[in-house]
Amino acid sequence: MRKKIVAGNWKMNLNLQEGVALATELKAALAADKPNCDVVICTPFIHLATVAGITEGTVIGLGAENCADKEKGAYTGEVSAAQVKSTGAQYVILGHSERRAYYGETPEILKEKVNLALANGLKVIFCIGEVLEEREAGKQNEVVGGQLADSLFDLTDEQFANIILAYEPVWAIGTGKTATAEQAQDMHEFIRGVIAGRFGEAAAENVSILYGGSCKPSNAKEIFSKPDVDGGLIGGAALKCADFKGIIDAWKD
Ligand code: 13P
Repeated sequence: MRKKIVAGNWKMNLNLQEGVALATELKAALAADKPNCDVVICTPFIHLATVAGITEGTVIGLGAENCADKEKGAYTGEVSAAQVKSTGAQYVILGHSERRAYYGETPEILKEKVNLALANGLKVIFCIGEVLEEREAGKQNEVVGGQLADSLFDLTDEQFANIILAYEPVWAIGTGKTATAEQAQDMHEFIRGVIAGRFGEAAAENVSILYGGSCKPSNAKEIFSKPDVDGGLIGGAALKCADFKGIIDAWKD
C-alpha cells in the first residue's frame, strides 16, 4: 500500500527561532492527536540540524528543500546531499518549480541531484507541474510526462522506490487558485500511468503522488478524497501549526 503523506515546504520563510517554535508546536500537536498519514517538514538548510533534534523519535519526518548537483568540493555556498543527510534529515525536495524557474535547474541538473540524493540515502520528493500557458494550450500532460521522463526514467527500480512525486501546477502555487479535485485526479491518474509504462504496475501502485498548490484545511479533504491523490505538498499553510494540522487531519474521517 502506498503511503499517505502531508509534507510542508517552508520555502525561504521563518528564521531559526521561528522554525524551532513551529516544529516544537507541531510536535506537541501531533503527540496529542496522532496523524493518520506520514508527516514531513522540509525546512531551509540552516534549520535542519536543530529541527532534527526536535523531530527525532517523533512521527515527523524532516527534509531539505534542495541539495547540490555536485558531490563535494569547491562549490561555495552549496549544500551537498551528504551534508543534508548528516543533519538527520531523511528527505529532500527536488525539481520545485521555483528552483526550475528562478535558478535555472534543468532536467540534466535535476538528474544529478536525484542521483546524489538517492546515493546518500535520502528520499526524494520530486516536483512536476505545468505553467498556466501550457495548461491553457492543453499541453499539461505532455509537459508533466516530459518532466518525469527527462529526470527519472534512467533510475533503477530500486532507486525509484525512494521517489515521492508532487504534482504542483505552477498556476496554483501561492496564488490561492487551487486546481479542482478533478483536475488533480486527472493529472495524478495520468502520472501513475506514465510511471506504470516505465517502471511497471506495481511501482505505479506504490508511488505516492502528492498535490501541491494553494492547499488549505478547507480544500484538502476534497482533494485527498480522490483515488490517485496520496496527500499534499504544502507551502503557505505549512507555516502555521493550526493550518498544517488542519490539512493533516483531512485524512481523518
Ligand atoms: P502554496 O501551498 O503556498 O501554494 O505552495 C505550494 C508549494 O509550492 C509547495 O511546494
